[in-house]
Amino acid sequence: MVQRTLAILKPDCVRKNLIGKVIKRFEAEGFKIIGMKLVKLDSNTAGEFYAVHKDKPFFYDLVSFMSSGPCVPMVLEKENAIEDYRKVIGATDPGKADEGTIRKMYADSKEQNMVHGSDAPDTAEYEIKYFFSSKELVENMG
Ligand code: CDP
Ligand code: MG
Repeated sequence: MVQRTLAILKPDCVRKNLIGKVIKRFEAEGFKIIGMKLVKLDSNTAGEFYAVHKDKPFFYDLVSFMSSGPCVPMVLEKENAIEDYRKVIGATDPGKADEGTIRKMYADSKEQNMVHGSDAPDTAEYEIKYFFSSKELVENMG
């Protein structure tokens, strides 16, 4: 089934000038970019996006990291996109991520781990709507 997932190139990815390399990898893996923007989140927006983690000990640091500089939310489309994207990015902790994954190759820490990815169809739908209106998504990319 063709699916959509929300990816975010996090502020560490943008600061390291790795936007192009990561997008190149997504394209090579067969994902079509159907929406993309550059935004600097304020802490309220970052906190709302990550509200599911609001009781976790890392929440405050995560929110300040995610609002520390611009990031690049994008919507990726592909057969089995949600699961396949998680395979390309690797485990949350780059130390535990498989060889060749984006987090293993480029991430510095469990917090500053380069990229976000939706984890299930319902969260993907919510997260896509969080950043994009339907007018900002391109249909029929093939
Ligand atoms: O991003 P992912 O779905 O792999 O992990 P998560 O468990 O949903 O956590 C969301 C984000 O919180 C991670 O990507 C990290 O940036 C951060 N995090 C952290 O700083 N410390 C942890 N122990 C776990 C997550
Ligand atoms: Mg997650």
